[in-house]
Amino acid sequence: MARIRRPQLARSLRLGFLIAAIIGVATGFLAWHQVEQERRTDLDDVNRRAQALAQQLSAAVGNALALPDPAASAALRPHLDSYRTLLGYAVFRPDGHLVAASEAVQDFADRLAPVLLRAVYLGADAVRLIRFQGTPIEAVAVPLKNQRGLLQGVLVVAQDVSFIDDRATGRLVQFGFWILILTLLTVTLVVGATWLTYERPLHKLADWMRRLRTENVGEAPPPGLPSEMLVSETGRLAASFRAARSTGQRLSQVAMHAEQVWTRDRLRVHAIAALGEGRQLIVVSNREPYMHQMRDGKVQAIVPAGGLVTALDPVLQACGGVWVAHGAGDADRQAADGSGRLMVPPDDARYTLRRVWLTREEEQGYYYGFSNEGIWPLCHLAHERPVFRALDWEAYRQANLRFAETVLDEIGDGSAVVLVQDYQLALLPRLLKAVRPDLQVGLFWHIPWPNPEAFRICPYGAELLTGMLGADLVGFHLQQHCNSFLDTVDRMLESRLDWDHFSVEFKGHVSRVRPFPISVQDWAERKVPAGEELEQQIAELKQEHNLGNAFIAVGVDRIDYTKGLPERFRAVDRFLEKYPQYRGRFTFVELGAPSRTHIRRYRDHIAQLETIADEINWKYQTGDWQPIHFLVAHHDVRAVHAFLTMASMCIVSSLHDGMNLVAKEYVAAQATREGVLILSEFAGAARELADAIIINPYDTEQFAEAIHSGVEMKAAERHARMDRMHQAVQEHNIYRWAATFLTTLAATRNQVPGT
Ligand code: G6P
Repeated sequence: MARIRRPQLARSLRLGFLIAAIIGVATGFLAWHQVEQERRTDLDDVNRRAQALAQQLSAAVGNALALPDPAASAALRPHLDSYRTLLGYAVFRPDGHLVAASEAVQDFADRLAPVLLRAVYLGADAVRLIRFQGTPIEAVAVPLKNQRGLLQGVLVVAQDVSFIDDRATGRLVQFGFWILILTLLTVTLVVGATWLTYERPLHKLADWMRRLRTENVGEAPPPGLPSEMLVSETGRLAASFRAARSTGQRLSQVAMHAEQVWTRDRLRVHAIAALGEGRQLIVVSNREPYMHQMRDGKVQAIVPAGGLVTALDPVLQACGGVWVAHGAGDADRQAADGSGRLMVPPDDARYTLRRVWLTREEEQGYYYGFSNEGIWPLCHLAHERPVFRALDWEAYRQANLRFAETVLDEIGDGSAVVLVQDYQLALLPRLLKAVRPDLQVGLFWHIPWPNPEAFRICPYGAELLTGMLGADLVGFHLQQHCNSFLDTVDRMLESRLDWDHFSVEFKGHVSRVRPFPISVQDWAERKVPAGEELEQQIAELKQEHNLGNAFIAVGVDRIDYTKGLPERFRAVDRFLEKYPQYRGRFTFVELGAPSRTHIRRYRDHIAQLETIADEINWKYQTGDWQPIHFLVAHHDVRAVHAFLTMASMCIVSSLHDGMNLVAKEYVAAQATREGVLILSEFAGAARELADAIIINPYDTEQFAEAIHSGVEMKAAERHARMDRMHQAVQEHNIYRWAATFLTTLAATRNQVPGT
């Protein structure tokens, strides 16, 4: 049993005394009121008796008063005897002259003048309580009239009423005693109850939290916490703590083995071990890594824009395997064999791309409709309203089924580890597991996961979650997304959550949920110019776009309303407005790749951006300088690399973003560590790249100031910041991401619920 500590006891005692005082005052008042009532009743009795006695005497007194004083006094004497509480009588003439009085009354007869006066003046009975030598005396004065109605005199009856006071005092003492007992009882009960209900559990909780912090205890939070909310929050706290601790441990391990940076070769060896004998690696995503398009009558391969492809192509190149994806290019069928297969990269075959064919209607409903007008805005807090149409949902289910069939066809009788990518394929894990429970299935969600309240609006939310929980491992970029996901499952499905191990047991299957911040590969490994060739390319680009010697800031994005492009343009505008000395000396280049243009919102967005850029350019342009170059096109990797290398600043201003790999691509391209990164606090990358200038894209003033301080930042600070970020991106590269994901997925084999 935990010992009671002094401050806790004092706190409970204070509370106990407060409650007891309130009860004491209330009952004391009631007791006093009760005693007063009784006292009044007793006095009324006394008065009634006095009046009866006066009545009995009135005839004799009236006769006596007709005589002169000595005779009257002698006539009255036998009537004035007293008994018990009656002290006696006094008889007065109307002018206040005392005619006769009992012996006991004579001593205080002169104190009876006020009651006498009152009776004479009103012509009616008068009552007064007087104190004589500490004794309370009730005096009742009764006026006496003769037969003609003339006032003859006043008879006063005096009674000792000290018995009434004594009785009232006795009652008060009695009540006081019970109030004291009640107070002690209340204090004891309150102290005991607060100790058992609050102090002891909270004391244990504090003790457990301290040990969690200092000793890394493995046990669950103490039972019996005073509220449900505390119970669930402490579970989460412990889980986050453990997650943070293991991240910390991982980080320190990485620091210890800094020389062992993950490379393509190291991943290959690791993947072979993690996959085990005879199991192939299959990656499934909607977007394909290489897309064939007809341009000027020729088939051309392009690499689609977007973080998913950037991240996963190097993994497949390192590990080999099959990538199953939608064949969305207009020349895709021409470039593949009869089953939709081809080897990629086109000029350096390393793995198989298996294309899934969808009809135009399927693509419309599944990709444009449900995925990008429904789930995309649902998961991004960019104030875009999601649209859920029943027909789109049907197409989404059909397309997921089509992907599942293709994956199963690829696997045949063999065994495989399947890495499902992103929100377009949420139903795939369960579809695969339903047919082949032996497969190991991981799902990585590349976009943010919203809080449960936001997710609840999706009419098909439970089905999506059910599909996702077919996976053995569900990965997000951030711990926060994992927490929100588990919260959502908790609210929407009948499942068993284990916050200690971050896992969910649903329909007899356990899914682990973990953060894996995705990353990029080193530019040196890619087929992009370096050295003189790169310098040449940069010179050409500068000339082509008339960039001169201006300070160049760059942005590289798919044109999407989540990327904060209007906010970025307005910040440039504000910067030039506030700091006119930079007009003609600062140029912002936005490489914008058109995206999802069959959706009206996306088309409108391009038009809106062009209008804003035009307005700003019109406002400031001089001679052959313009502040914004908005280059709307599909830019190949060489051009992106050249711009990222030449730019003294890169601006990433997402309104909400799972990770944002452009930020990491820029850092990776900064071989000379000269550049400055401006990064939105709402992009997942901001957690790792704390040396960037962090902005809130909605705050135009702050954003413009950030551009200003970036432009003016001293070389030493730029180098120091960029160096730290560069090192972080090199160590936490895409190979490390893939290795950690595969290792964690492999560890889920034969897992037992609750482990
Ligand atoms: C984001 C999504 C990816 C998607 C990419 C490009 O990064 O998470 O799943 O592939 O955008 O978008 P798109 O619609 O062109 O595939």
